Amino acid sequence: MERQRSFSIKSTSVFLALIITTISSAVIFFTFFSIKSNSSNANNFQIHLSPVASITETTTSLHISDSSVSPQQSPILISTHFTPPENTSGSAKIPDFEKKTRGEVSSVKVIELPSKNDEEKKKKRIEECDVTNGKWVYDSDLPLYTNASCPFIDEGFACQSNGRLDLDYMKWRWEPRDCDAPRFNATKMLEMIRGKRLVFVGDSINRNQWESMLCMLFQAVKDPKRVYETHKRRITKEKGNYSFRFADYKCTVEFYVTHFLVREGKARVGKKRRETLRIDAMDRTSSRWKGANILVFNTAHWWSHYKTKSGSVFFVPNQKKDIRRNTGMERVNYYQEGDLVHPKLDVSTAFKKALQTWSSWVDKNVDPKRTRVFFRSAAPSHFSGGEWNSGGHCREAKNLLNQTFKPSYSGKNIIVEEVLKQMKTPVTLLNVSGLSQYRIDAHPSIFGAKPENRRSQAVQDCSHWCLPGVPDTWNHFLYLHLLHKRKVTN
Ligand SMILES: *[C@@H]1O[C@H](CO)[C@@H](O)[C@H](O)[C@H]1NC(C)=O
Ligand SMILES: *[C@@H]1O[C@H](CO)[C@@H](O)[C@H](O)[C@H]1NC(C)=O
Ligand SMILES: *[C@@H]1O[C@H](CO)[C@@H](O)[C@H](O)[C@H]1NC(C)=O
Ligand SMILES: *[C@@H]1O[C@H](CO)[C@@H](O)[C@H](O)[C@H]1NC(C)=O
Ligand SMILES: *[C@@H]1O[C@H](CO)[C@@H](O)[C@H](O)[C@H]1NC(C)=O
Ligand SMILES: *[C@@H]1O[C@H](CO)[C@@H](O)[C@H](O)[C@H]1NC(C)=O
Repeated sequence: MERQRSFSIKSTSVFLALIITTISSAVIFFTFFSIKSNSSNANNFQIHLSPVASITETTTSLHISDSSVSPQQSPILISTHFTPPENTSGSAKIPDFEKKTRGEVSSVKVIELPSKNDEEKKKKRIEECDVTNGKWVYDSDLPLYTNASCPFIDEGFACQSNGRLDLDYMKWRWEPRDCDAPRFNATKMLEMIRGKRLVFVGDSINRNQWESMLCMLFQAVKDPKRVYETHKRRITKEKGNYSFRFADYKCTVEFYVTHFLVREGKARVGKKRRETLRIDAMDRTSSRWKGANILVFNTAHWWSHYKTKSGSVFFVPNQKKDIRRNTGMERVNYYQEGDLVHPKLDVSTAFKKALQTWSSWVDKNVDPKRTRVFFRSAAPSHFSGGEWNSGGHCREAKNLLNQTFKPSYSGKNIIVEEVLKQMKTPVTLLNVSGLSQYRIDAHPSIFGAKPENRRSQAVQDCSHWCLPGVPDTWNHFLYLHLLHKRKVTN
């Protein structure tokens, strides 16, 4: 009995000691993680979190700081790391000449004390960030591809091949002000469009962007033979459609030319058959876009053209002049709705009606669960001293406009925004107008043709863009939207 008693006492004290140990370790445990969680996350003021929650928080913080300090100084442009907003002290994404002195980074610290003065802390998550707000920074790692590494640049955009010698225009990267944008990763983009159709629909500026996309994606393809046009068509300036297949990813990157999105046709007016524009009917190729998974539309430039008596097309690319002309200029016997050919209609009204025709088509034919729709805003042209056919030029521009330049926003873009707002289908605006306006240096000018094909030095192309160049940035935006914003399901 005695033994048993003493044993029981003994066991009780052992038990007690055990309990005490457990409690104290639990207290230490709690305290440790509470402090840790509190100090490692500036936004976490819940000191009394349960240990489990604290661990989770801590793990998250650790994970975040871990990914933000992973080595990214490699000269390869591609980076998919999503730098967390709390920590922008990593300098990997800031080009050398912009690097601010923030002290040496010698070791990985998990704990970072909040500092209200740190401007950089205001950086947003890419999902919440307006990427169009930012600046151009020189980046010696650019371009992403060259005339030698991309076989899809057609003559009109192949400035280097056509003899342009100054190449700085390839080296500017758009840097959003409010967030760190991950670099374009062609492999990742191809994975995102695996088994899908990425379709560009619009005018030659969209062909410009589509060729840029082909080039950007091509860099991640190991066997060049695994990328081909499905009908073996060569890219030309003529009206057409192209579908490039990236066989390893079972996806196609397609382009359909349509200058107005709506249908060009002919109608009898009086005794004559005239060319008209059916602002109430979609372009004939629309049935082909229907099943696409990603649709990128544009239209703008041709709404600044006018048809002369001889029937040839003239180009009035200067944005400011456009608006002035358009509001005063009514087209005679050109715009058609049903059987009616409007004797007169101003171009803004016609443009709006055409976009409404387009938006109804999208709302009726696009399943937002399957298809993601983008509309690219108008790209600016930069003619000085005349228009495209009257000696307008941009060849002398070797540098982009500086920060004192304030971009304008055209009336056409405002109409686009109005129409998009009224749609049932969510459409993402690729708002490239402002940032492209700085890039007076980036047009082909006389280098839009091989020397032997240049008709006259007087004709310069200050509307399209050299490749590599500005459309790469537009495609980077497209990538960011696909990567970080609403997901497309299959
Ligand atoms: C690009 O994305 C691929 C696929 O997601 C990934 O394996 C690769 O590491 C990424 N490249 C870079 C430089 O981040
Ligand atoms: C933020 O990044 C810097 C440099 O990469 C690193 O030293 C620091 O520990 C990081 N802070 C946090 C809270 O992750
Ligand atoms: C690329 O441009 C350079 C410079 O004009 C030229 O020498 C070269 O032949 C071009 N490469 C291709 C593949 O066109
Ligand atoms: C695509 O282009 C080819 C050749 O120009 C033409 O025959 C065909 O009808 C076009 N298809 C569509 C859907 O536009
Ligand atoms: C910016 O451009 C304007 C107009 O070309 C010029 O007058 C001004 O000096 C430039 N400013 C700087 C800082 O380069
Ligand atoms: C597009 O960007 C311009 C500045 O370049 C801005 O004025 C405009 O409001 C933006 N539009 C949208 C819908 O964000």
